[in-house]
Amino acid sequence: MRLFLKNKIKTKFSLPTDDFFNKLRNKEYAKLDSLGQTYLDFTGGNLHPKSLLKDHFNLLQNSIMGNPHSTNPSSQMSTKLVEEARQKILDFFNAEDYYCIFTSNASGALKIVGECYPFEDNGHYLMTSDNHNSVNGIREYCKSKGADYTYSPIRQEDLRIDDEHLIKNLNSFQDKTNKLFAFPAQSNVSGVKHNWEWVKTAKEKGWDVLLDAAAFVPTCKLDLKEVQPDFVTISFYKIFGFPTGIGCLLVKKSSFPKLKKHWFAGGTVDYVSVIESSHLLIHNQERFENGTLNYLDIPAITMGLNFIESIGIENIRTRVKQLTGLFIEEMSKLKHDNGTPIVRMFGPLNTERRGGTIILNFQDKDGKTFPFDWVENQANKKLISIRSGCFCNPGIDETNNCISNEEMTQYYSSRKEKEFDSSINFLSYMSQQIGRMRGATRVSFGIATTTKDIETFINFVSELKNKTISICK
Ligand SMILES: Cc1ncc(COP(=O)(O)O)c(C=O)c1O
Repeated sequence: MRLFLKNKIKTKFSLPTDDFFNKLRNKEYAKLDSLGQTYLDFTGGNLHPKSLLKDHFNLLQNSIMGNPHSTNPSSQMSTKLVEEARQKILDFFNAEDYYCIFTSNASGALKIVGECYPFEDNGHYLMTSDNHNSVNGIREYCKSKGADYTYSPIRQEDLRIDDEHLIKNLNSFQDKTNKLFAFPAQSNVSGVKHNWEWVKTAKEKGWDVLLDAAAFVPTCKLDLKEVQPDFVTISFYKIFGFPTGIGCLLVKKSSFPKLKKHWFAGGTVDYVSVIESSHLLIHNQERFENGTLNYLDIPAITMGLNFIESIGIENIRTRVKQLTGLFIEEMSKLKHDNGTPIVRMFGPLNTERRGGTIILNFQDKDGKTFPFDWVENQANKKLISIRSGCFCNPGIDETNNCISNEEMTQYYSSRKEKEFDSSINFLSYMSQQIGRMRGATRVSFGIATTTKDIETFINFVSELKNKTISICK
């Protein structure tokens, strides 16, 4: 993509990628500046480029699209655009050996794996303790099918996988037939990129592998010729912001027969009889696409991936790496006059094998932690979007805060339903029970982030200098 606009963004920092990405910001994401907002929640969801909406609107305005899978012209138009999007996804991820199943998001994709993986046939489910709840939740399918699950820990010092434990776990359960191992390509909380080699190692040891790529693919190349998990889950709004409500499950063709679908719905069957209790499921990805697809929005996936290709995923990766390095460096410099650091970051404090997602807490001059919900409220007042809590990934928070099994048991046995109207209440209630801080603040960068956004955040954090937590009352 060639950008002829002027770089209008002024800041005291400068990065080698500024010229290109500042122009991109002015061209595609200018509303951030016109509305005076600072968006630092790219892992929550990306922002859509202006041109993507325009292109999609033009398509809808100028074409007649009906429900797919009929021979009428409007239906054929939708079928063609849906199949183009499917092929575009397979090409983008170099996934010629995979089926692409459209879902409503990554969680929808994970649910298919949970529902259909044959845990009932002497199965076992192994997860890293760094996982999104939509991956953790599969353990309930596993339990309901009479199988067991295991967590493999991450190390407290850098929030990376504890290799020794994982090897031990992968070598265990030798008597099991259907073994599924799930881990995220990139943590949605710490930003850690877990090692690809685990896919290969687990497969060599007889495991099927579920790679949750939702937080990885917005800023990194996933090449499914290079690394070949059995199942891969993705949400598209995390890559280019629009549309929400579309994700996919990529299933290796050789592993496809392993997923057992226990029911059928419109669009998933070749034949059903009401006289006899029989049905024939469609032999390809459509078997899992229940009912009518979101055929008006799916064509925007092709446009979104074209947009990312026009920028270059490697350029996005480099940009986010530079922003992350700058952020870590500047946050580390912020100190109270008595020398106490204002910021405490968790996970790797460099840019090696990590993405642009960082969790942190803020300390007062006596080393006491400012409550994360208070921090978020202060940021809200300045139109800065950050996120706080435990980000649907309890394993990271439990590791960061050294929560023991006994403490969790004590907490669950004293829980009162009415106190859990939000995840923030949930975490603060739990901190009171165990007498320790829970939760953190998360900041994440993406394609539209500028050094100006980082500067705004630094200024915001600097206001905590020499303060004590008594200001939160
Ligand atoms: C790593 C990871 N997996 C799964 C999900 C679930 O994605 P969705 O909410 O789009 O289903 C997320 C969402 O933040 C995520 O970051």
